[in-house]
Amino acid sequence: MSIKRKRLIKYMAFTMAPAIMIALIAAVVSTMTMGSSAVTLAEAQETAPCNACHNNTTLIDGKEAQWEESGHGTGTAFMEEGPNKSCVGCHSGGGFSAMIAAGQKPNQPTAGDNNPTPQDCRACHQTHTTYTGIDWALETVAPVSFYMLPGKTFDGGEGNLCANCHQPRKAAPVVAAGGTVTGITNRFGPHHGPQSSVMIGTGGAGAEGTSAAHYQYVENTCVGCHMGSTDNHTTEPNIATCKGCHTTATSFDVNGVQTATQAKLDTLKGLLLNAGVLVCTVDEEGVESCVPPTASFSAPQNVGYALWNWILINNEDGSKGVHNPEYTQTLLDNSIAGMTP
Ligand code: HEC
Ligand code: HEC
Ligand code: HEC
Ligand code: HEC
Ligand code: HEC
Ligand code: HEC
Repeated sequence: MSIKRKRLIKYMAFTMAPAIMIALIAAVVSTMTMGSSAVTLAEAQETAPCNACHNNTTLIDGKEAQWEESGHGTGTAFMEEGPNKSCVGCHSGGGFSAMIAAGQKPNQPTAGDNNPTPQDCRACHQTHTTYTGIDWALETVAPVSFYMLPGKTFDGGEGNLCANCHQPRKAAPVVAAGGTVTGITNRFGPHHGPQSSVMIGTGGAGAEGTSAAHYQYVENTCVGCHMGSTDNHTTEPNIATCKGCHTTATSFDVNGVQTATQAKLDTLKGLLLNAGVLVCTVDEEGVESCVPPTASFSAPQNVGYALWNWILINNEDGSKGVHNPEYTQTLLDNSIAGMTP
């Protein structure tokens, strides 16, 4: 049964008497099979109970308040990147909905969005399609085949929604003749959202891994950990979810894995700084960021791979090993060994 159909039934069971429900399910199922269930606002106002959502509860405001705190609500990149067709599918909420409706991958939109919106309610939910409670259904939960990593697919329940955008925009570097990685600049790396590829153990340089236990066992993957059982829209990871399996966890640093990962990242950073392939700057708020120098350069394979993996884990995955503990350790151990004479 599709999520949309399931939601319809859940919604109706909640709001209507069982007898009416049986008649309505029959009627709605036949309309749904006949084709599009989208209705116009005028049609909806005659029949639809708008108060499934617009009512005297905090159903909408409660989520709005959380969303405003989230990276999706505070992020500003959509303004600058939304109008660019190479960025619109992930950076404009409206652009994302259009991309999904057209069955496109993020590199396929042919136009930018000149009125870009953030990753908001309408980006993730079907808001105002039928004007009933089933419009909380997610825009998509179909498995995501990575467009930059052919043959690799993320299939993690509702987390598939997230993986559409939180997937790499670049594949790991290819080694040129002579054993060097060429064309390294300050934009080197998979681009900012490789969490889904890390979870299935791919996209690092020099080593493929296996999918994480967290990919196999956490219900709805990203959504399970980042929204928890209360659908928390701050998208902060939820410690209660961790405790469901790691019963004694008091932080995300289960068994000290985040501390150990940070120590390896620090070691590798030192090696990359010594090799002159990383430059660090500190902003007014004291936040350090480290990227390769701007002008294009080449590096030996071991250095190029180590640099890619450090950027992947430190700058872009952001979980300090939690998304895929084993693959993260493998990439960092190999990289450190490769840089150590
Ligand atoms: C599935 C829940 C849901 C239902 C049902 C629903 N709405 Fe909404 N509506 C929303 C959400 C969520 C927003 C806020 C959108 C945002 O903040 O981006 C919204 C916003 C609005 C707004 C503010 C302007 C706008 O478009 O953002 C109006 C007006 C509105 N809805 C009217 C209606 C009417 C009329 C109906 C019934 C015919 C209806 N809605 C049914 C969820 C719903
Ligand atoms: C339409 C594309 C899109 C979808 C779908 C999406 N995200 Fe995001 N996400 C982004 C973008 C873009 C940013 C960064 C926004 C900015 O900086 O302007 C972001 C930021 C974040 C952040 C904050 C990261 C930080 O560095 O602070 C988290 C956490 C996050 N997303 C988790 C999720 C989860 C969990 C889901 C699925 C429920 C999801 N995202 C779905 C595009 C998306
Ligand atoms: C496949 C989806 C996708 C595409 C395409 C994409 N981005 Fe992003 N971008 C993301 C995600 C996801 C994040 C947030 C990642 C996080 O914070 O973990 C992000 C973050 C960013 C940020 C904020 C980074 C920061 O350090 O705060 C900038 C700037 C950005 N992207 C620029 C671009 C530009 C420019 C393009 C087009 C040339 C583009 N992006 C295309 C998914 C995408
Ligand atoms: C990044 C994607 C994303 C964004 C943005 C987002 N949501 Fe959600 N929302 C989800 C996911 C995932 C769930 C969990 C789905 C489930 O319960 O099956 C959810 C669940 C909900 C629910 C519970 C629905 C139910 O049937 O129990 C409500 C209500 C809701 N969201 C409202 C909103 C509102 C209002 C906004 C805008 C302020 C918003 N969401 C923005 C992804 C998102
Ligand atoms: C096992 C639970 C779990 C799963 C599953 C999971 N995450 Fe995470 N994620 C975390 C934890 C824990 C962190 C690190 C938080 C911290 O240390 O503050 C994190 C970090 C992140 C960050 C960086 C946040 C920041 O503030 O820099 C993003 C973005 C993110 N995850 C997105 C995703 C996406 C997208 C998925 C699905 C492809 C996903 N996560 C799956 C637990 C999880
Ligand atoms: C559905 C069950 C489940 C949930 C929920 C879950 N994990 Fe896990 N986690 C596992 C399994 C299974 C393993 C692999 C076996 C092991 O090493 O204990 C694992 C391993 C880990 C490891 C590596 C441990 C080690 O010693 O190598 C860390 C770190 C971790 N999880 C953190 C988290 C965090 C943080 C959360 C919540 C944000 C979380 N997990 C949620 C099941 C889960």
